[in-house]
Amino acid sequence: MCGIIAYTGKQQVMPILLDGLKRLEYRGYDSTGISIVSRKKIKTTKAAGKLNVLESKLQSEITGHCGIGHTRWATHGAPTDDNAHPHTDTDNRIAVVHNGIIENVDALKAMLDPKCEFKSQTDSEVIAHLLATHSGDLMTAVRDTLSLIVGTYGLAVIDQQNPDTIIIARNGSPVIIGVGDNEMLAASDMAALSRYTNQVVHLDDGEIAKLTPNGFDVVTMDSTVAHKEAMTLNNTNANYDRGGHPHYLYREIIDQPDTVKQTLSGRLDERFSTARLGGLNLEARDLIGVKRIIILGCGSAYYAGLAGASMIESLARIPVSAEPAAEFRYRNPVIEQDTLYIVVSQSGETFDTLASLREVRRKGGFVLGIVNSVGSTIAREVDGGIYMHAGPEVSVASTKAYTGMLTAFSLLALLLGRTRDVSPQQGNRIISELKELPDKISQVLAIEPEIAKIASKYKHSQSAFYIGRTNGYPIALEGAQKLKEISYIHAEAYPASELKHGPLALVTDQTPCVVILPNDDLLPKTISSMEEIKARGGPVIALTSAEGAPADRIAKLADHVISVPDANELTLPAIMGVALQLLAYHSAVSLGRDVDQPRNLAKSVTVE
Ligand code: G6P
Repeated sequence: MCGIIAYTGKQQVMPILLDGLKRLEYRGYDSTGISIVSRKKIKTTKAAGKLNVLESKLQSEITGHCGIGHTRWATHGAPTDDNAHPHTDTDNRIAVVHNGIIENVDALKAMLDPKCEFKSQTDSEVIAHLLATHSGDLMTAVRDTLSLIVGTYGLAVIDQQNPDTIIIARNGSPVIIGVGDNEMLAASDMAALSRYTNQVVHLDDGEIAKLTPNGFDVVTMDSTVAHKEAMTLNNTNANYDRGGHPHYLYREIIDQPDTVKQTLSGRLDERFSTARLGGLNLEARDLIGVKRIIILGCGSAYYAGLAGASMIESLARIPVSAEPAAEFRYRNPVIEQDTLYIVVSQSGETFDTLASLREVRRKGGFVLGIVNSVGSTIAREVDGGIYMHAGPEVSVASTKAYTGMLTAFSLLALLLGRTRDVSPQQGNRIISELKELPDKISQVLAIEPEIAKIASKYKHSQSAFYIGRTNGYPIALEGAQKLKEISYIHAEAYPASELKHGPLALVTDQTPCVVILPNDDLLPKTISSMEEIKARGGPVIALTSAEGAPADRIAKLADHVISVPDANELTLPAIMGVALQLLAYHSAVSLGRDVDQPRNLAKSVTVE
């Protein structure tokens, strides 16, 4: 959600800012802008729209070695040229890029000279005007200004009077320093830094840093010096791209056999028929004391949590529930010592998920993280966890990270199950299933042409329904989520049992229904739900792992069948999930949608 990039050093800054913005565009993409200190003056160029609009507007004669850039996801004010960041003061001395929300913006404006001219409708612009009321040391000016702000920020500031200095600050929205050789960078996430350095320093909330080409100093809001060591990050992802495919999303879907292997790598313990998850920081003795599990996340991470809840509950026989992270934290939850809390997040930066983690820890709860982004804020603040190792995910709609979450949950379910009723023999069977998962996903990818045909047939539908029963319901939820996010077809998921209690009123011959039919004990019941839809003339797309006679019955009733390999309850959500990702992808492509950057959405939502 909004991206920040900043650079000071010997190189020409404009190409570095543009490259950084390109890598951050997935965080928000409704407007972009850069400010450069050029011949001791701040030169700012901003444009509504995507980065290519800014590029066409930029004048190549703007040269300089210090600058800041921003890609925006609008909160206050529509996506216009004026509302794009950076924002400057009236004299154009100072430029600011800001992620987050300033809650007391009206009170801050009232503190300014009434003649002060605001050029935008954003909350962020007030920071530039407040900074301009200070003369002298820029770091002190930023600290004094921030002490007035109520709200969240990730911030970068330049001032023409300090032409090689950048001040950055963090409170609730990530900022990372990239330490180079006689050059310093800062960004809202690693993606923008990894081409230039693997030495990074994460700012913590309440910290302010001064960057010059020769180094950085970090202080806290009360001016205490913070001694921060740079950490070395693995940079193998620095050149991650579409891999020759038309969209990141497509690459991320077809990469899944490999990414699942990465999540499983080194974690299957065949000797003791269990999972090896050293990062949990929990011994078997701790695990056996867990009486209940609560899983928290947003969007697809929440849906992965619902699927994970079923997996753990069925194997470990512990009550498990999943909740949207923001709902949880705002209902003043009861935190219990023998409950294990798990936060799930691809980016490790989602504001609501982070806030729920902090709320639980503040009340004394133990929190594990299932996170993709190494070194992210959530990864650093949890008590232990599981990295997905799915690699970068750039497309806004989550695919391989979602599957990584499911895979991590299946490992956790196995581990917890083995501390309880799961026998070594059953543990070994589960391990075999998990080892087969990459190959089963490849089998689903092989039927892509059939799925693409179905997508093309229903692409003009106004609405689509997804139904599933128990374990099938989270699969339906994520399937509907994928379709609505990227194709903009209205898609809703319902438990199959709820169909007759309302949603059936909406079923017509114009509303395709995707019915999730795992080969389980409830299959006959879900087939009955399918009959209810057919009786109302609704076209049925059956997604099933059934074989034999039930498969024949499904084939007779359904208009289309997407047949996937049979699997257990731990791996079926991932296998079926991939088929539904392909269905959504081909619907979006055939409608000419902006698949990687769907309207109104952002990949990493770091505001409330
Ligand atoms: C945004 C994205 C979703 C994602 C959710 C949670 O809404 O558009 O695709 O599932 O954030 O993101 P996280 O990084 O916490 O998994």
